[in-house]
Amino acid sequence: MYWRFFYKVLSLIDPETAHNFIIKIIKNGFLPKIKTKSIPLTVMDIKFQNPVGLAAGFDKNAETINQIHKLGFGFLEVGTITVFPQEGNPKPRIFRLPEDKAIINRNGFNNDGLTLIKNRIKDFQKNNKPSNIKLGINIGPNKDTSDRIKDYTKLIHAFAKYADYLVINISSPNTPNLRKLHSDKNFKSLITSIKKEIIQLNNCPPILIKISPDLSNTELKKIIKETVNHKLDGLIISNTTIKRNVKSKYKEETGGLSGEPLFEESTKVLIMARKILNDFDSRISIIATGGVCDGKSAYIKILCGADLIQLYTGMVYEGPFVVKNILDQLDRFKKRDNIKNWEDVRGRAKSLDEANKIVENGLNKKT
Ligand SMILES: Cc1cc2nc3c(=O)[nH]c(=O)nc-3n(C[C@H](O)[C@H](O)[C@H](O)COP(=O)(O)O)c2cc1C
Repeated sequence: MYWRFFYKVLSLIDPETAHNFIIKIIKNGFLPKIKTKSIPLTVMDIKFQNPVGLAAGFDKNAETINQIHKLGFGFLEVGTITVFPQEGNPKPRIFRLPEDKAIINRNGFNNDGLTLIKNRIKDFQKNNKPSNIKLGINIGPNKDTSDRIKDYTKLIHAFAKYADYLVINISSPNTPNLRKLHSDKNFKSLITSIKKEIIQLNNCPPILIKISPDLSNTELKKIIKETVNHKLDGLIISNTTIKRNVKSKYKEETGGLSGEPLFEESTKVLIMARKILNDFDSRISIIATGGVCDGKSAYIKILCGADLIQLYTGMVYEGPFVVKNILDQLDRFKKRDNIKNWEDVRGRAKSLDEANKIVENGLNKKT
């Protein structure tokens, strides 16, 4: 197929150049419209046409919002967006690890900044009829800001009107010390300021916190406790990892690792998070991301507690039909396991091992 050849050629080019080229292609509408199964569902009171979204970092500047639905995504998360435009770290800063079906990136929030991106989204929403694809807006602080928390509240203020949901990214490993916002004291002050901002706004979409996969259970529990106590809407689990379980020659490169080697790590955090939420008797939503590349990995995320799923690296290695394939395969699992409603199996597996057995043997067989 022609896209296989096209992808092969792209894989020979420097990853960031290839990425910028792909963004141009999508932006200009040179995409086939891929017909996908509809799996409608409502999460956080938002109606999604299917549970598979494109994770943050692919479309940092909201350039593809009018076209990306053609690949079948139910939602797109743009960003991370900072208050002021930012160049990010010196290049090269993205590395492909094909043997591991992984990527290491140390971009450092390169983006066009609040004003330009807000105008882009505003223009798009003014000139187009509401599309089926839902829009998440992911925000973070500038590297050299003197007040990180103020950056977040400014960005919430600016984007609340335009997003279906907002994401507070505290988990990029590529902005020095950003992950310190996970610590109890810092997280409490961040969340208190966010809450104040939400109250001042008349109307604020659901807010989710995007967390690191490299947390201890104690840190995770504290974060979830504050998120639940402050009645925020959900978590994204997870961002990239700084751990390395890969063989590629690029394994020593600094940055966040994504793709297949992140799957197990991020799914274990998902299982633990769902357990902690159950203990708190909370049903806040979880978007699971990390190593999803096919129907099997997507089904495992649902069995382990995901309401919605996102991917990025999976599209780099599997190509533009990845969403269609996931939705077709999920449909086959649904029929095989006699699932009426995905809600009925969400969080059914209490371990990754159990989820794997369900996927292999079927839900109704002994696992
Ligand atoms: C090149 C690249 C850039 C990314 N940039 C961002 C970003 O700006 N903000 C963010 O929250 N996550 C970012 N991510 C992380 C992804 O959103 C996602 O959480 C992570 O890659 C795990 O999903 P995956 O294994 O499907 O790629 C980036 C990932 C990659 C590969």
